[in-house]
Amino acid sequence: MCGIVGYVGGRPALEVVVEGLARLEYRGYDSAGVAVLADGTLATAKRAGKLVNLRDALAEEPPPAGTIGMGHTRWATHGPPNDRNAHPHVDCTGTVAVIHNGIIENFSALRGELEEAGHKLGSDTDTEAVAHLLEDELKGGGDLAAAMRRVCGRLEGAFTLVAMHTGDPDLVVGARRNSPLVVGVGDGENFLASDVSAFIEHTRDAIELGQDQVVELRPGGVTVTDFEGRPAEVTEYHVDWDVSAAEKGGYDYFMLKEIAEQPRAVADTLLGRIGADGRLTLDEMRMSDRELREVDKIIIVACGTSYHAGLIAKYAIEHWAGLPCEVELASEFRYRDAILSPTTLVIAISQSGETMDALMAVRHAREQKAKLLGICNVNGSTLPRECDGVLYTHAGPEIAVASTKAFLTQLVAVYLIALYIAQVRGTKWGDEVFAMVQLLERMPEKVEKVLETMEPVRELARSLAGERCVLFLGRHVGFPVALEGALKLKELAYMHAEGFAAGELKHGPIALIEPGLPVVVVVPPRARAVLHDKIVSNIQEIRARGARTIVIAEEGDASVEPYADTLIGVPAVPTLLQPLVTTVPLQVFACELATAKGHDVDQPRNLAKSVTVE
Ligand code: AGP
Repeated sequence: MCGIVGYVGGRPALEVVVEGLARLEYRGYDSAGVAVLADGTLATAKRAGKLVNLRDALAEEPPPAGTIGMGHTRWATHGPPNDRNAHPHVDCTGTVAVIHNGIIENFSALRGELEEAGHKLGSDTDTEAVAHLLEDELKGGGDLAAAMRRVCGRLEGAFTLVAMHTGDPDLVVGARRNSPLVVGVGDGENFLASDVSAFIEHTRDAIELGQDQVVELRPGGVTVTDFEGRPAEVTEYHVDWDVSAAEKGGYDYFMLKEIAEQPRAVADTLLGRIGADGRLTLDEMRMSDRELREVDKIIIVACGTSYHAGLIAKYAIEHWAGLPCEVELASEFRYRDAILSPTTLVIAISQSGETMDALMAVRHAREQKAKLLGICNVNGSTLPRECDGVLYTHAGPEIAVASTKAFLTQLVAVYLIALYIAQVRGTKWGDEVFAMVQLLERMPEKVEKVLETMEPVRELARSLAGERCVLFLGRHVGFPVALEGALKLKELAYMHAEGFAAGELKHGPIALIEPGLPVVVVVPPRARAVLHDKIVSNIQEIRARGARTIVIAEEGDASVEPYADTLIGVPAVPTLLQPLVTTVPLQVFACELATAKGHDVDQPRNLAKSVTVE
């Protein structure tokens, strides 16, 4: 959950590294630091707090100009976020500097050995031990890359390491196990970063690094080996979005931009997957029709918002594909004795493709011989490499920590998978699959229509800025939408918010209802009369106890009007597709309420975009 940048080339390294960090700050912003190698000396600067604090320190005391450098933005795991614990960390001689993303699980033992041997470690971090281990290895001769390989062989846990040494003045070395690291290949210059947004203004040619690999970056070239020093196979690719996509595009926050991009994101995720004949083609799943016909159970693993997408997927898969479907929190699945077999299809949903809980769940499933399918938004991330097939969402870079467009494209992806399995297995009449696919193609315009009617939602949000709690109710696919609405409010407005299945209300939660309490209710389409009428009764029950009812329902649904203090209309769509339109008002609501409270909605406190530690 940290941002890492490395550079070797002809430009002023400090400028390239700090601008790269600015694009990675969403990955963690407890502290930031840089190291530059110039005239045989290693200069470092680091500050607690956001990147702006480091920029101020560098302006006051600029390091010597050099063309080799690296930088780090931190999300603290070991040691409080302060100057002392900020990266880079150096060895006793000040000639080796290291930055790190991940957790070195055996760092205490290593630290004990180093201190026994006379090393002086000044921080609380696990990372600093690596600088001193490299120092010892370099004493034995050999270059920094060889030293790094030997040190990596001693480390346990997840790590991306980048190091520099005054003895190798044109070299930056990186190493990765589990945490992300990608190479940018330029002309006479090369880059290392946690993700491509750090260097795509300079180059869009990238190299995906694999597990347990060490990369040597010099201005003239890149060398990749495994931890034993053997040449490693790498995957080169071209990044298909430009730097402007990673900018705010005129919006005050990335989150506002990304909410507005949802119609395009939904359309892009459908692109190329629906044939002219209306049939689906999902070759990227890399599963034959026979394999799909053999599947007898689906288990979905994910975290947070992606988990909510999985909960919605369950309804779609059971209805269209006719397969039993379990949805598990990745962090729980891994420690459960789940019953898997080669005919179980495990679907891992992850926007970043780097969530450690999701990756460890996938590895757990792999050990049980299950088939693995990833749904991911980041090309070159770890998850796709760990799965048999992957269905990429095409939401574009999602910078804001709170997931919005990625969530809607995850829904599109799970709908496509469910319908594709139905098509292959013949569980639903072709005409129903065909009709649903046709409706999916119209969803971008439906989402656009919702976005055009959000001003009343913003006004409502501002009026509730002083509230301490908001509850969310839903039934069927509206229940995961209620969970997602609550999560958005928690992570953005730092408010207590809770989502419930409306049917559970009378089993306890109704005791929470008190006069004036805001309760958001997601109402199913009238076409699902039983579901619809039951939730209208729920609205009456809470209203009778004084709740302030905020109702999201199909435009023209007059039956809810008498019980809605605020009524938010959304376009009429089939029940299973309704989350695509009912989620958007909840995103706007949470974003506006948090803004009204003066919060930074792109970088909420305590959070990071990708949780790359368990
Ligand atoms: C969503 O708004 C949160 N930022 C968080 O719950 C996120 O969905 C979760 O950490 C999973 O991330 P992933 O999709 O990248 O795996």
